[in-house]
Amino acid sequence: MTRSKFTPGPFPCGVMFVASNSIGTSLFVTGKTHVRHLQPLAKNAGSCSAKNTRRKSRMQAGATTLKAVASERRLCTQRSEEIMRDAVNVMPGGVSSPVRAFRSVGGNPIVFESTKGSKIVDVDGNEYIDYVLSFGPSVVGSANDEVIEAVSTQARKGLSFGAPSYLENQLAHAIIDAVPSAEMVRFVSSGTEACISAARLMRAYTGREKIIKMTGCYHGHGDSFLVSAGSGVATLGLSDSPGVLKSVASATIVVPYNNIEAIREVFRKHQGEIAGVFLEPVVGNSGFIEPLPGYLAELREITKQNGALLLFDEVMTGFRISYGGAQSHFDVTPDLTTLGKVIGGGYPVGAYAGPRHIMETVAPAGPMYQAGTLSGSPVGMAAGLKTLEILRRPGTYEYLQRITQRLVEGLLDAARSNGHEACGGSLYSMFGMFFTKGPVHNFEDAKKSDTEKFKKFHRGMLEEGVYLAPSQFEAGFTSLAHTEDDIERTIEAARRVLARIPA
Ligand SMILES: Cc1ncc(COP(=O)(O)O)c(C=O)c1O
Repeated sequence: MTRSKFTPGPFPCGVMFVASNSIGTSLFVTGKTHVRHLQPLAKNAGSCSAKNTRRKSRMQAGATTLKAVASERRLCTQRSEEIMRDAVNVMPGGVSSPVRAFRSVGGNPIVFESTKGSKIVDVDGNEYIDYVLSFGPSVVGSANDEVIEAVSTQARKGLSFGAPSYLENQLAHAIIDAVPSAEMVRFVSSGTEACISAARLMRAYTGREKIIKMTGCYHGHGDSFLVSAGSGVATLGLSDSPGVLKSVASATIVVPYNNIEAIREVFRKHQGEIAGVFLEPVVGNSGFIEPLPGYLAELREITKQNGALLLFDEVMTGFRISYGGAQSHFDVTPDLTTLGKVIGGGYPVGAYAGPRHIMETVAPAGPMYQAGTLSGSPVGMAAGLKTLEILRRPGTYEYLQRITQRLVEGLLDAARSNGHEACGGSLYSMFGMFFTKGPVHNFEDAKKSDTEKFKKFHRGMLEEGVYLAPSQFEAGFTSLAHTEDDIERTIEAARRVLARIPA
């Protein structure tokens, strides 16, 4: 893929930039008439684009030249900053979701213009290798041509019916074929909605109220889950959220992940009261953390013995950690599963699934009410179906596993060989690295990571053209579009950045 080239051009209401790369050509306009509340960027924006073009051609020239220019490398994000200055006046914190803010890494969020494959391009024309991938959905690569084709075909037939479509059957079948615990599926519009609904189902089915969750796991922003949550809640250092009813929060019992004795203790103390256990089978919302050997199987055993349900929240791991999700990889079948991200192929789709005898508690088959105007949206179903079809092709997971392992191996070596304490790991297309010698088995361990160092690492990588999630407590993602060259360039960038950061 060629790097973007921005050419300032005249436009009556401001300045028009022509952005072209292998993604195609796009136009965007700055100026009062077109972007309200923004100052025209005529003079400065041109210089920012020119700077970025110069920076990019140096980067393309190779690692030796890069070393030579390392000290003068400066990321020009003038246009992003302008947009964010406006955004904070019209949206809380300037973002539509807190994890997008750069609160824990400093500076302003980068504002993006386009993405394709493994690359993402910001409004100033900087191109990055993307390891965020919209926080997970884009496992086949962003704006995949086949997915776009499927979406366009469906969009021409209709955006939403508010009534059944055959696409829902097809995606439900694909999920049921892949995910061991799924016999029936209910589609919703986000991971949050899937988790809220599944918690209600746990309570409705068992007639019990208490739910166990793990510190640092994130299950969306439902009231029951905003207790010691991961992701943005952990990033912002919040323990709970005001506005959550105490009675709801008190029905959630929190234990550390990977600590089986803590679970046993809760079941001893609250006999007959626990509806179920909710967890990310592989944690992505405290950074990347794998389950200890036997942990998931023991949870399965304990929940069965106590008449409680086990739920794997596979919103992040579903179709990422193997085609059948983490439950398939670890060969442990929970009662219920929540899904999102990948199954919508970039569109807002979530789902919860389980055996028929539990799922038929849900209305209209049963009494537990849950509904949604845009649930099972045909465009989202089409995107999800095509994404799963691509993932079923031979060799996909082996490829993801190989490049991601190489990436983490390279990042850890880059850190350690520069004297930094580091640990990390990967499974298929999910990975993470902490600045602590580890091991990291739960959020309590993850908090030992040197977050000041992560902040410098994050900024340095941005300047090198690598986009990482703006928090130590988020997993990274690769996709089928990431090439071996992307991986090697990322590792080289990390070596340069980590050499500059004091150990
Ligand atoms: C494991 C997990 N569950 C639930 C959610 C919430 O999903 P959404 O952001 O689509 O509401 C997330 C989001 O990152 C997640 O990672």
